[in-house]
Amino acid sequence: MNWLKEQSLEDQEIQNNLLATCKIPKHIGIIMDGNGRWALERGLSRTEGHKQGIESVRDIVKASAQLKIGYLTLYAFSIENWNRPLTEVGILMKLLEHYLKSEIDEIDENNIRLYSIGKLSSLPKKVQRLLFEAVERTAKNTGLTLTLALSYSGRWDIVRAVQMLVHDVRRSKLAPEDITEETFSSYLQTNILPDPDLIIRTSGEMRLSNFLLWESAYSEIYISNKYWPEFRRTDLYEAIIDYSRRERRFGRTSEQVVSQSKTIEFQSEKSLNTR
Ligand code: IPE
Ligand code: IPE
Ligand code: MG
Repeated sequence: MNWLKEQSLEDQEIQNNLLATCKIPKHIGIIMDGNGRWALERGLSRTEGHKQGIESVRDIVKASAQLKIGYLTLYAFSIENWNRPLTEVGILMKLLEHYLKSEIDEIDENNIRLYSIGKLSSLPKKVQRLLFEAVERTAKNTGLTLTLALSYSGRWDIVRAVQMLVHDVRRSKLAPEDITEETFSSYLQTNILPDPDLIIRTSGEMRLSNFLLWESAYSEIYISNKYWPEFRRTDLYEAIIDYSRRERRFGRTSEQVVSQSKTIEFQSEKSLNTR
């Protein structure tokens, strides 16, 4: 099903308004938290919370694709999550397997490029195979890049990058003095993604829990009090509106930022007038 066709007129109008009035982040990262608490408060099992969480994933992926967001990275399972009770880990892996099987056709049909980061070798073989096939199958798609962070942790990726870098230095492929932030970034698994502009965390928790540690140096952080299973597209729109109102200074003063954006406006007006 083509997602653009199934969109309601009302939602289309809201999105058009967002596109006309807001700065849309190029890359959004989401720490999807609160499935368990959502279920507990409703007298349901944690499994039900995770299942309902997948409905939120579906809606947010669709809305992001419709809004033509370039990159969406979803933190679905951390390395630390392996320490949860075995039964919960098993259920999460089964749900992941089911998600990949049932969604891949629609993901591909909608021009989504699937990508994954994390210590994938720890995942069950079946999941690894499905992921690999999905990534291969959608590699040439040009729409939203949907990255699943699975068995992922930011520190793990940084240490892995250091190991590979040292290896290259030893083989004289890289000189220590050539190690810059850019070269270092190129060793991270996220090297095909721009740094996230906006990181959303649900369930009111105010921490990164090992998500994109290096990449989030200048990300705007938005905390939603909703649990992940109840976080839907209207909540995403609110986060984007909030992001759009922020001034990203990257260490500069507010005056510098304002004058720089005026110069850019002036230059683009000039180039329009001379066309
Ligand atoms: C997020 O919800 C899903 C994963 C981390 C896999 P949680 O399962 O962490 O839910 P809470 O935080 O216990 O409510
Ligand atoms: C963060 O949620 C990891 C994911 C959303 C995958 P957790 O529930 O594992 O985080 P903590 O333990 O509360 O920090
Ligand atoms: Mg949690």
